[in-house]
Amino acid sequence: MKINLKKIEEMSYVDFMAFLEETNRAPGGKESIRQLVLNSFVNQSSKVLDVGCNTGYCSFEIAHLAKCRVTGIDINKNMIDSANKLLSEDLPIFRDLIDFKVADGQDTRFEENEYDLVMSGGSTVFIPDKLKAFREYERLTKPWGFVGDIIFFYHENPPSKLLEDMNGLMGINIEPWDLKYWKDFYRSTGLEMFYEFGNKMDYKTDCEIKDYVAYMSEKKQGLNKEQIEAIYKKLYPIMKLFNENHKYLSFGVFIMRKRYTPSEPSLFGE
Ligand SMILES: C[S@@+](CC[C@H](N)C(=O)[O-])C[C@H]1O[C@@H](n2cnc3c(N)ncnc32)[C@H](O)[C@@H]1O
Repeated sequence: MKINLKKIEEMSYVDFMAFLEETNRAPGGKESIRQLVLNSFVNQSSKVLDVGCNTGYCSFEIAHLAKCRVTGIDINKNMIDSANKLLSEDLPIFRDLIDFKVADGQDTRFEENEYDLVMSGGSTVFIPDKLKAFREYERLTKPWGFVGDIIFFYHENPPSKLLEDMNGLMGINIEPWDLKYWKDFYRSTGLEMFYEFGNKMDYKTDCEIKDYVAYMSEKKQGLNKEQIEAIYKKLYPIMKLFNENHKYLSFGVFIMRKRYTPSEPSLFGE
């Protein structure tokens, strides 16, 4: 394998994780998908759109669970190519049910009222105009269908140094958005809030982190001892930083409904 120690050291976080072929997952992983599928009543006859599908984690999970049709879209063609590669290795039934396309979640140019569920597994935060994206999700959803958003939020304000380190590592600019921020945003979309689920992220022991980092360092074939050690040395502080961030972080699943007729406000129970 043509990768020298200097290259490993200098790789950006995104390139490093792509090099390690780490599976991208929605916040909360399988637990979030389970909550979303069960509580949006997705079944075999449903059509689902996964916005910002990346390599297709949510699309695959939803299709595998409900055996329904799923389209995954992402603005990044490399992600769609990787998703299609994984699809080509899946069972024929899923190769028929799932498809991946390059498209912008803010303006897909797809037909309106097409999907029983339009969902995002941690992508809304990466979309420049979130409200525009939600208008598009709503347009694509069938009347009485659902819009599902899986997110991270801070249940406790993280120390500013931690946030700085996270932003520096990932080359992004996350803000310590809390539950109130997201609930205010969802209210502003005008969609009916239908179901909410949230849980704190896991905090791992040092031993668990080291086991995982050792596995990830040794997983790639054809690397020599020095290369494996260089990967370990770079990955361990990254995972320690994520673990520290998880002390303050929760994941949430929010399911909203596109009503056909308006609902009357209710004082006790919706
Ligand atoms: C954190 S990843 C989402 C993870 C993914 N749902 C999964 O389960 O693996 C965010 C994704 O959103 C995509 N994205 C960003 N802006 C987008 C847009 N305007 N339209 C569609 N996808 C977008 C990015 O390319 C990236 O793949």
